[in-house]
Amino acid sequence: MEKRELLYRGKAKDIYATDNPDVCVMRYRDDLTALNGGKKGSFPGKGALNRRISDMIFAFLETGGVKTHFIKTINEYEVLIRKVHILPLEVIVRNIAAGSFSKKYGVPEGKPLKMALLEFSLKDDALGDPMISPSHAIALELVTEEQLNQISGVAMGINNLLKALFDRVNLTLVDFKIEFGTGSGGNILLADEITPDTCRLWEKDAGVKMDKDRFRQDLGGVEEAYREVANRLANY
Ligand code: TMP
Repeated sequence: MEKRELLYRGKAKDIYATDNPDVCVMRYRDDLTALNGGKKGSFPGKGALNRRISDMIFAFLETGGVKTHFIKTINEYEVLIRKVHILPLEVIVRNIAAGSFSKKYGVPEGKPLKMALLEFSLKDDALGDPMISPSHAIALELVTEEQLNQISGVAMGINNLLKALFDRVNLTLVDFKIEFGTGSGGNILLADEITPDTCRLWEKDAGVKMDKDRFRQDLGGVEEAYREVANRLANY
């Protein structure tokens, strides 16, 4: 496999073409961003930690029957992935009130929700990723009704798998964001990453934040938290 030109530069990852049109290289960077790119930071090795964490989670989800873009780890920072067309939809699952949900609806952070909540946002930085309903997603032709039903079912299944995984390493999965893409045959694959950048993870008993909220809220100990999440998953 030969790595070729840069196809896409995201906030914390780059995607490169390869000599195989159906396969890309995804390279994690050490960058950390928050507030839709308005707050920037980094620490050495952050990309490698997220690569480790996301690879472990994607491999775990694959064994649970979830179809993903993941092919194999190349090195500390790089992964071989199936090339997908990313659907312009951010899928958020919440188990416990936090973040924008707490702010928008006036619900105290930490209140368990009666049921796992599925939320959608239009993936558009310029518009600030506005929250949309399932009807918006179909009317705006972001996805078909069939794709949305499939994505919703897979997202809830991922929530159940991940809640159990994190519970075993003494972490509570508060919420997370995932993205999906369509592969060469039009099939829907889980894409992007699942890391402390894209999840809220709290220590099961003490409630200590072990995710990007440490950066967003200037709590310090960002690197230590990411390293701890990676080590716990690796040692499980
Ligand atoms: P929120 O409470 O800010 O809406 O975030 C919900 C979850 O989604 C949280 O785990 C962080 C994650 N998320 C992203 O990964 N990227 C984003 O752009 C946003 C808004 C949230």
